[in-house]
Amino acid sequence: NWTMARFLDQEIARIRDLVGPEGQVLGAVSGGVDSTVAAKLMKEAIGDRFWAVLVNNGVMRLDECEQVERDLKQHLGINLTVVDASKDFLEGLKGLHDPEQKRKFIGGKFIDVFEAEAEKIEKAAEQSGKGTKIGFFLQGTLYPDVIESLSFKGPSATIKTHHNVGGLPERMTNGQGLQLIEPLRSLYKDEVRELGRTLGIHEELVMRHPFPGPGIAVRILGEVTEEKVRIARQADHIFISEIRKAGLYDQISQAYAAVDPSRAVGVMGDKRVYGYIIILRAVTTTDFMTAEAFNFPWEFLQRVMNRIVNEVNGVCRVTYDITSKPPGTIELE
Ligand code: XMP
Repeated sequence: NWTMARFLDQEIARIRDLVGPEGQVLGAVSGGVDSTVAAKLMKEAIGDRFWAVLVNNGVMRLDECEQVERDLKQHLGINLTVVDASKDFLEGLKGLHDPEQKRKFIGGKFIDVFEAEAEKIEKAAEQSGKGTKIGFFLQGTLYPDVIESLSFKGPSATIKTHHNVGGLPERMTNGQGLQLIEPLRSLYKDEVRELGRTLGIHEELVMRHPFPGPGIAVRILGEVTEEKVRIARQADHIFISEIRKAGLYDQISQAYAAVDPSRAVGVMGDKRVYGYIIILRAVTTTDFMTAEAFNFPWEFLQRVMNRIVNEVNGVCRVTYDITSKPPGTIELE
């Protein structure tokens, strides 16, 4: 009979067999459930012969890069390199208003930064004495992704350019001649979470909401500026902290605070102010193809509104997006 512990043992044996006693593996991680579980599995199978790379693209959430580094390096013992390319990303995002252009830029830049780092790591790996040169590329593909790419493209995939689907694996396998390893390709999301628990990954990480590759850049309508990134981060942090405090995190599939670049007039103290509008979004869904807005208690929304207008400089209004999907998508762009 099938158990997660047995699946794990078999998968570790299969990877050891495939990679051999000397082979080395490269992979990108984001801090999300799938890439973290895949990375921890590699760590268990081949130790430091697995090399993980995290690219800081400047549009991750508040303190997220540091948090992911702590989780993966210290808590999970993964051989991780963090590349801080945030300045380059933010610089390149200047003047881009169109959602597709923003996505294309972030996806393309991500591949460039990753490839440059991969070269350095390949050299380091060769000289490390841990094994031979890197011959494999890890990808945290799940069963639903496999089905989607085989049969039809879901609305998100066709309407938007998902830079983590295609792109990098293609470049690493066909371009760099690395062999693809996809240990999660027979699993559904809830099975990946279960596998994560079996691997000793802590519950908060295992239950993390999905986060898009282009990050908060698709949660800032129009042009991304450093000021708007700061506002989106602070407001999002308040919203998510209050959701956790209220014990609602696991009832919600995805939640975030977005920035509307048009500004509204308000009055704070005895002063007239002109500030950005925050859009809160929280949805429940099983497959991310359709979704419903989460039904918060009114007092909860008031508490979040009060904290955001008081604590986040430059914001004078807070709205809650009640649109279902369809017609709305989960992200704003
Ligand atoms: P939408 O906005 O299309 O999102 O309803 C459905 C799910 O996909 C995520 N999403 C992305 N994930 N790169 C990603 O890695 C992307 O470009 C991207 N766009 C949307 C979104 O967060 C939601 O979980």
